[in-house]
Amino acid sequence: MAQLEQFAAPGTQWWRSAVIYQIYPRSFADASGDGIGDLAGITGRLDDLKELGVDAIWLSPFMTSPQKDAGYDVADYRDVDPLFGTLADFDAMLEQAHARGIRVIVDLVPNHSSDQHAWFQEALKAAPGSPERARYIFRDGRGENGELPPNNWESVFGGGMWERVTEADGTPGQWYLHIFDPTQPDFDWTNEEVREEFRSILRFWLDRGVDGFRVDVAHGMIKADGLPDYSPGDGADSMGGDQTEVPYWGQDGVHDIYRDWNRVLAEYDGDRALCGEAWLPTLERTALWVRPDEMHQTFNFPYLTTEWDAAALRAVIRDSLDAFGAVGAPSTWVLSNHDVVRHASRLALTAENPQGEGIGPNSPGKPDPVIGLSRGRAATTIMLALPGSAYLYQGEELGLPEAMEIPDEFRQDPTWFRTDGKRYGRDGCRVPIPWQADAPAYGFNDTGASWLPQPEEWAEFARDVEENDPTSTLALYKQLLRERRERQLGLGSLVWHDRGDDTVAFRRGDLHVLANLSDAPIDIDPQARIVIASEPFEGSQLPVDTAIWYTLN
Ligand code: GLC
Repeated sequence: MAQLEQFAAPGTQWWRSAVIYQIYPRSFADASGDGIGDLAGITGRLDDLKELGVDAIWLSPFMTSPQKDAGYDVADYRDVDPLFGTLADFDAMLEQAHARGIRVIVDLVPNHSSDQHAWFQEALKAAPGSPERARYIFRDGRGENGELPPNNWESVFGGGMWERVTEADGTPGQWYLHIFDPTQPDFDWTNEEVREEFRSILRFWLDRGVDGFRVDVAHGMIKADGLPDYSPGDGADSMGGDQTEVPYWGQDGVHDIYRDWNRVLAEYDGDRALCGEAWLPTLERTALWVRPDEMHQTFNFPYLTTEWDAAALRAVIRDSLDAFGAVGAPSTWVLSNHDVVRHASRLALTAENPQGEGIGPNSPGKPDPVIGLSRGRAATTIMLALPGSAYLYQGEELGLPEAMEIPDEFRQDPTWFRTDGKRYGRDGCRVPIPWQADAPAYGFNDTGASWLPQPEEWAEFARDVEENDPTSTLALYKQLLRERRERQLGLGSLVWHDRGDDTVAFRRGDLHVLANLSDAPIDIDPQARIVIASEPFEGSQLPVDTAIWYTLN
């Protein structure tokens, strides 16, 4: 039987094959020493990223914000929050990144602003029906005196999706919609004024020289006409990734916005890119975000949410290449980010863990750290061999596990507060990363301050320890990234090996990839010359939860 060969959609733009490293600025490097990372900290660590071998960085939001949702609540889209520095610090960081050949993508949060944004403050002061209110989604309440919310929608962070305001005359007034926290009111994207404002914000950052945008909640900006009631099924994913028809996710109207933005980016040189954060139930729907005149990339969340299961993983890779290829877009690949349990823990979880749930001291099904790390390394070894663009999340190159024992009093994620502690939320993947084993805050800064406590066992994951250990996760990532670049694995075709067992096996040119997801060692081709192994091992059999890249002699 002929082996299935799949081709990455052709094209020369950098984003088709780039490895993009996500920086969560609060937790990357803290030059000021106040316990929260900053832009100057990033600039100081660019050499480390260059050495790691990434093509681009994506920075989670650093714009002016009251930080009610760690910066995803923006009060001024055209300035830097003093916590992170100044616009001059941003320009310096950008220049230094570019000088090293590293592109820079910034996070744009267009679905909602902070309640401290000037527009929302004006809306609160203005009357119902005014142009100021029309920039957001204000509605009269239901019930005799408008005392009930306009519909039954539930916020992603728990509780209702509407907040009632007090009108200027002191009477209880209208309600406004917030998909996330009440401090994050949703814009009304049917309003041309909102559209024009965001074109201008895009240009502000493009003029400064950014290479693109990661677009937050790119599936939520248009709500169904009439805002009809909707009840998700039990245990539904709060971002909507597992549900088909949700009146606030994936509405057709969002595509017009991205077609418009595509035209704005095309005014600029150098292949600027839009990458959408859109959680949708199928790959076919996800691919609609990257049709030729829309965004350039969209996160492959179906891949991220696939469990450690060979058949499921083969299927999602095959279907991803098909679905994105059908619209001429690269597939992206991602295993970790600031919203999900780190993959070195998640892949060994024994209990369901929907997005944003987190793991805390009392969570069921806590993962075994050794199994988790082996699977995490093997998963990355598979991922970085795939054609398309791959996203890494800071700290995964160290093999960091989720921080699972953060005491309740340190928690910061609004999810924790809005669910009365029923969901731990995302703090466990956001802890400042360790650079030096024997330094205050593991070298995150030189004062020892840290906005979330760092686990004691993280000394062994510190970058300086791993730098001196050829078997470390850091050494593995560097090797994978170097080979990927030299062999141009981000482009080209993939030929499947049909082995009929619990492996993921394919060939990229003369490089073969084999991952063992079964529960017993498997034989390796006697002709194999191993180029990279996700774990050191002896003998002629590939251990469980291990992956290799090899050529044939
Ligand atoms: C996205 C971000 C997440 C944030 C939410 C609201 O999902 O990744 O961190 O809380 O949007 O902006």
